[in-house]
Amino acid sequence: MKTRKVLLIVGGVLIAGFVILQIIPVGNFIPELQFPGNPPVVQAIQWDSPQTEDLLRRACFDCHSNESEWPWYSHIAPVSWLVMKDVNEARRELNFSNLNLRSSPGRFVRDVEEHIHTDMPPQIYLVMHPNAALTDAEKQQLLDGLTQSLTASAAGSSPTTASTGSGSTSGDQETEGSSEKDD
Ligand code: HEC
Repeated sequence: MKTRKVLLIVGGVLIAGFVILQIIPVGNFIPELQFPGNPPVVQAIQWDSPQTEDLLRRACFDCHSNESEWPWYSHIAPVSWLVMKDVNEARRELNFSNLNLRSSPGRFVRDVEEHIHTDMPPQIYLVMHPNAALTDAEKQQLLDGLTQSLTASAAGSSPTTASTGSGSTSGDQETEGSSEKDD
């Protein structure tokens, strides 16, 4: 009978703790952990093909876009903290809904290439989203498609993209391969 009592107390404390976690508005104290929602897409990329878009949506968009899908567990603390931190950080670094290239498309794609072969998407994400794991062929297809899409828009071939005056996405160089400046 004594063990039963101890178990009841431990269980009660655990449940109370869990409930309290849900109630604390952690995001109010730590902006990183705030639920960012899905703000409007600022500048959609003109994809070279539906396949390129599909690959990026499948593997990257949950974190690196304003079109994230939020599974139920992403709202349950403490998992929610991890998810919010990842998405807030990821969007700040790179947001395909508002791609503000700080370097040439070539350099940007090389950066993506480096990460796609090492740590992107993050391992923990793949556990919950096995569908986001890309084969080597798919990674290559994504990189090629991204290059195509970005060089096309950098060349200004599509006047349909909203031109935000302050943006620095104007194509100053369309030459492929020779872009070793800035930074
Ligand atoms: C689970 C969320 C998540 C997913 C999915 C994800 N990323 Fe990331 N990504 C992050 C976070 C968080 C960072 C910033 C911290 C870091 O570098 O680890 C980041 C950083 C990056 C960076 C570095 C940006 C810079 O300039 O430093 C690149 C490039 C990148 N991700 C590419 C991708 C690509 C490509 C995909 C899809 C194949 C992808 N990521 C999928 C969370 C994610």
